This record gives sequence, structure tokens and C-alpha cells, in this order.
Amino acid sequence: MTYAVSTLALLILAAGFLNRFHRRRHIPLMLSAFAIDLGLLLHIEITRHAIEKVSRQPSRLLLLHVLISVLMLLGYVVMVCAGIMVLRRNRWRRLHRHAAKVFLTLRALNYVTSYLV
Ligand code: HEM
Repeated sequence: MTYAVSTLALLILAAGFLNRFHRRRHIPLMLSAFAIDLGLLLHIEITRHAIEKVSRQPSRLLLLHVLISVLMLLGYVVMVCAGIMVLRRNRWRRLHRHAAKVFLTLRALNYVTSYLV
């Protein structure tokens, strides 16, 4: 089930990227993906005690997956802040554009490593 939800968030991000110059579609799509990913992380923590598992002799791959996931979450925050600046003040557009490459790479790596841990 978690894989299906994660795939859905990824597809929504892809749709948001394809609609990056169409604000009315881009923003709700990206915020939806953020909400789904956040909900998914909370669900995994509540049902599988993920933080507890990581603190008890985690494999290198699990540590890498956790690191990527934390950076991805920070990435969402950066994207939202930069997005708001583009929207309200027409500033930080280059930051938003370049951070998007890093963020989308992190999200893709999060997806791939989630199948390997
Ligand atoms: C979370 C992941 C997000 C990604 C990966 C992303 C990515 C992008 C990219 C690649 C562009 C095109 C920039 C360019 O080439 O100049 C763009 C444009 C834009 N994004 Fe985002 N974005 C995200 C979230 C958001 C959010 C949450 C907001 C608003 C709060 C936002 C607001 C905007 C605005 C206003 C534009 C300019 C659209 C236009 O040209 O009319 N983005 N975004």
C-alpha cells in the first residue's frame, strides 16, 4: 500500500513539473504531493516505528534512505518557501528552478531506495 501511495505522490510531482508554468495547476499539485509524502512518513513511523528501527543497528542502505528522506523533506520546505517568493514578490525564481533539480533527484532516490531497504 505504501508503495502505491509513494508512486501516486511521484506521479503528482511529475504532473506538477509538467505544469510548472501553469500556476493554478502547478501549486495545488506540488502541495498535494507534499501532503501525501508527509502523511506517508507519519504513517510509516506510527505503524512501523521507523525511528526506533533506525536507532538500532541500521544497515548502511537504511541510513542512506533515511538521509535522503530527511533531505527530501527539507527540500519540500525550500521549494514551498521559494515558490511563495516567486508567487508574491517575483523573486527567487532561479533558486526555485535550480532547487527543483536537486529536490526531484532526491525524491527519485527516495523512491528507488525505498524498494531496496
Ligand atoms: C515542491 C516541489 C516543487 C517543484 C519541484 C517546483 C518546480 C518548479 C519549476 C521547475 C518551475 C519553473 C521555473 C522556471 O523555469 O523558471 C516552477 C515554477 C513556479 N513554481 Fe514551483 N515547484 C514546486 C513547488 C511550488 C510551490 C509549493 C509553489 C507555491 C507556493 C510554487 C510556485 C511556483 C511559481 C509561482 C512558479 C512560476 C510559474 C510561472 O512561470 O508562472 N512551486 N516550479
